[in-house]
Amino acid sequence: MKYLVEKTNFSKKYKSDCMVIGIFEKYQLSYIADILNTISNNYILNILKNNDFKGKINQIIMLYEVPNILIKKILIIGCGIKEKFNREKNKIIIKKVIHQLKTIKIKDIFWCLTDLIIKNIDLYWNIRDTISIIEENIYIFNKFKKIKKYTLSLIKFNINNNNIQIYKKAITHSIAINIGITQTKNIANLPPNICNPEYLSLKTYKLANKYTKNISVEIIDEEKMKHLGMNAYLAVGNGSKNKSVMSIIKYDNLFDHSKPIVLIGKGLTFDSGGISLKPSFHMDEMKYDMCGAACIYGVMNIISELKLPLKVIGIIAGCENMPDSNAFRPSDIIQTMSGKTVEIINTDAEGRLVLCDVLTYINRFNPSIVIDIATLTGACVIALGNNISGFMSNDLELSKNIIKASLDVDDRVWELPMDDKSYYNQLKSDIADIRNTSNSNSGGAITAACFLSKFTKKYKWAHIDIAGTAWNYNENNKAFASGRPVNMLCQFLLNYSNHNN
Ligand code: BES
Ligand code: MN
Ligand code: ZN
Repeated sequence: MKYLVEKTNFSKKYKSDCMVIGIFEKYQLSYIADILNTISNNYILNILKNNDFKGKINQIIMLYEVPNILIKKILIIGCGIKEKFNREKNKIIIKKVIHQLKTIKIKDIFWCLTDLIIKNIDLYWNIRDTISIIEENIYIFNKFKKIKKYTLSLIKFNINNNNIQIYKKAITHSIAINIGITQTKNIANLPPNICNPEYLSLKTYKLANKYTKNISVEIIDEEKMKHLGMNAYLAVGNGSKNKSVMSIIKYDNLFDHSKPIVLIGKGLTFDSGGISLKPSFHMDEMKYDMCGAACIYGVMNIISELKLPLKVIGIIAGCENMPDSNAFRPSDIIQTMSGKTVEIINTDAEGRLVLCDVLTYINRFNPSIVIDIATLTGACVIALGNNISGFMSNDLELSKNIIKASLDVDDRVWELPMDDKSYYNQLKSDIADIRNTSNSNSGGAITAACFLSKFTKKYKWAHIDIAGTAWNYNENNKAFASGRPVNMLCQFLLNYSNHNN
């Protein structure tokens, strides 16, 4: 999608197919709707009144050939009660408008909805939200379809001398962020016979070739993992003929001795459960067990594109969990890179095994902050559902900043507690230092994080469980990647770079 800005001057002929404006209940007009209505000698309001258009939320009507207006089609969307128009309602009407534009196959549109005043939201965030919601609603994954569907391709915003800088900044940020989100979705949506750990590592090389000045890549293959003693990571991949690969993307735009932020993504390109095989119902969705890794790829892209003054190391923990005679098994005891031994109870609790060795490996970078993103537990979906990611942290300030970023971009998270001894008691093993699953089936999202926390003592750390949010379902109940929480992570980094530089 292309985004342009244009100064409002209704006397000149626009080249757009259509324009969209918003009208509240009681015929309260937005700034632009009012101008258009005046130019058309009240034609717009008269016709709306004759057509029972009351401005109720999502009421929609198309006007053709409005007098004195050169764009032939004006799409009018009801916005509800003016004083109650908030972020959520803005989201609802944009979705409706996009749906309508798709139905009538409009290709480019003069977008006049960013002049609607949204409760508690300034213009910058109005534009950021708008572009995010548009992109979310036009995304299609048609790589494997012969017939490509039509897409909306151009959005023009109206600007004036006073707000041009705000538009430019918001559009620049939004474009970079949404390209990253789209890349994340495109990778995450790939099937596991194409997207395996090696494929993910090849993608990181491409990134390094694109941003040679700021990005370098290091690959840790199975040989190197063996030398490093990453036995937990290796055990998970043992049952697959696709070799495990950990890709390290190093982004530096500071070139000093400051400590890096480390972001880690769980990259199980398929999680069958291994010997503790999953039931087949919905097993296809376990190709999305690499959504954390796909997020890291998107985020690294975005910060490179925006040239943020930061030092960030992104780790893609690629692996595949399959049953096989080489596969690890329940009752195996594995020595992790940290030296701690783990009793395997369930081979389906594999994410924490891969991550624990990565969390140990990264000590060498002396990180300022570490955040891991993982589709870690079904229990998190039970606890929080499909719209809010779970998160846990060992640092209060870090957790506050994550919450702040998540509220900024409306990519929600909810913190779960880790500070009760009972959780850790559930992980005690009689035969090894720790077991890989809890000895009860309660609080599974938390006990998984507690497992990880045993390996994160040396730095400030947060764990984000995206099992419920990394993908959602379309009207045919088919799962597609959501690209979450790329927006939140990028905002966290944007906020961080504003504070620290
Ligand atoms: N990748 C899954 C978690 C998952 C399940 C994500 C459903 C999204 C939807 C993870 O590897 C897993 O299998 N976890 C187990 C842990 C259990 C064995 C303690 C789970 O949640 O069932
Ligand atoms: Mn699993
Ligand atoms: Zn998994």
